[in-house]
Amino acid sequence: MTHWQKTDWRSKPRIQMPTYTDEAALNAVEGRLASYPPLVFAGEARRLKQHLGACSRGEAFLLQGGDCAESFAEFSAVSIRDTFKVMLQMAMVLTYGAKVPVVKVGRMAGQMAKPRSADTETVNGVELPSYRGDIINGFDFTSEARVPDPTRMEQAYMQAAATLNLLRAFSTGGYADVHQVHQWTLGFTQAPEAEKYREMAERISDTLDFMNAAGLTTDNNHELQTVEFYTSHEALLLEYEEALTRIDSTSGKWLAGSGHMIWIGDRTRQPDGAHVEFCKGVQNPIGLKCGPSMTSGHLKSLMATLNPDNEPGRLTLIARFGAGSVGEHLPRLIKAVQEEGAVVNWTCDAMHGNTIKSASGYKTRPFESVLREVKEFFGVHNAEGTIPGGVHFEMTGADVTECTGGVRAVTDENLADRYHTACDPRLNASQSLELAFLVAEELSARRTAMAAAKAG
Ligand code: PEP
Ligand code: CO
Repeated sequence: MTHWQKTDWRSKPRIQMPTYTDEAALNAVEGRLASYPPLVFAGEARRLKQHLGACSRGEAFLLQGGDCAESFAEFSAVSIRDTFKVMLQMAMVLTYGAKVPVVKVGRMAGQMAKPRSADTETVNGVELPSYRGDIINGFDFTSEARVPDPTRMEQAYMQAAATLNLLRAFSTGGYADVHQVHQWTLGFTQAPEAEKYREMAERISDTLDFMNAAGLTTDNNHELQTVEFYTSHEALLLEYEEALTRIDSTSGKWLAGSGHMIWIGDRTRQPDGAHVEFCKGVQNPIGLKCGPSMTSGHLKSLMATLNPDNEPGRLTLIARFGAGSVGEHLPRLIKAVQEEGAVVNWTCDAMHGNTIKSASGYKTRPFESVLREVKEFFGVHNAEGTIPGGVHFEMTGADVTECTGGVRAVTDENLADRYHTACDPRLNASQSLELAFLVAEELSARRTAMAAAKAG
């Protein structure tokens, strides 16, 4: 067997990647990126892998979420803080309801390259190349903006570094201290689920007071004062990924230094394609999107390629079939996993199978469909006796109107009010919290059913 090299993907069929016209400029950027420090340390990726292994056994639960696409325009401390804050709230709801540790992974600090369903976009008779994420080209509908520009990779790297720096500061600098559980509430969440959250926060505070009174001091407890927060993104732009890939001196293995976890999208998971070739060689935890077109044969071949040693936590299968279709696809893929004796972490992306065009012309996702897909995902795992290991959402802490529905009902007509996404519609803070309560209920019902089965 020849040794894997980080450039091997270059000889494989590539799709969904730009063709840069200025090769000299591209080479110069790649050279500089390759000389910059990686964003993450291999020990962190290994630790996340262990946590994800625990998720696959039902001993922990993965919460993965964030923007569909991070943009240069929306880059600010406030947007990073608000998304982080909603994730902390959701994680608290899940931990409290499910009584298992929640592994927190942001679609943050590098989620900037997008696969598109069409290569071009036509507006009022004008056809231009599609927008592919700020790391590749510009969102504005002009021919200049849509030219792939390699220098954007460097700006993306700087933004990812600054984002990760702030996330690390929030995670360990006191902001994420569980004693702050009340403060994470966002100003505009006046809805019933916000009230539910406040009640839960009250009970958590009571518990902390009780522990302190009982002499179990919670004030100087590292576990309660900090959180582990990891980053992830789709490894789509392989020039960028390759430039940040380094040998980890501790293990002698390759690490994609662009983020802790990377995933392969539903459009780029061809077993012989460039993206699978790249991901197979790095030691990071890998996510694999599984849409309706994933065959059992492809899944088996991908599991063998991406996780030949059947290492727990290495492979997270992110099911995204759409509400109403989970029952048709998930059981056959679970069967494929079982036939191979493979260890995987099953999670549910309840966003990407539920995108529709609203009557008002916006790309949206009905909140009801998102909820329903999550329920169907749990239903299938409960019926099959397998383990639901996590959830994956496109969400933001900002009070946007991009997905319809929820208790503070966003209607078709409201979509225009605050539709800010650079790509797919995200859940707003209120919808995210509502969803977290639903997932917590599902997890807690499973726990009760399993305890009853054990007792009976
Ligand atoms: C995404 O996660 O933003 C995405 C494009 O997903 P998928 O590959 O599942 O369509
Ligand atoms: Co998306």
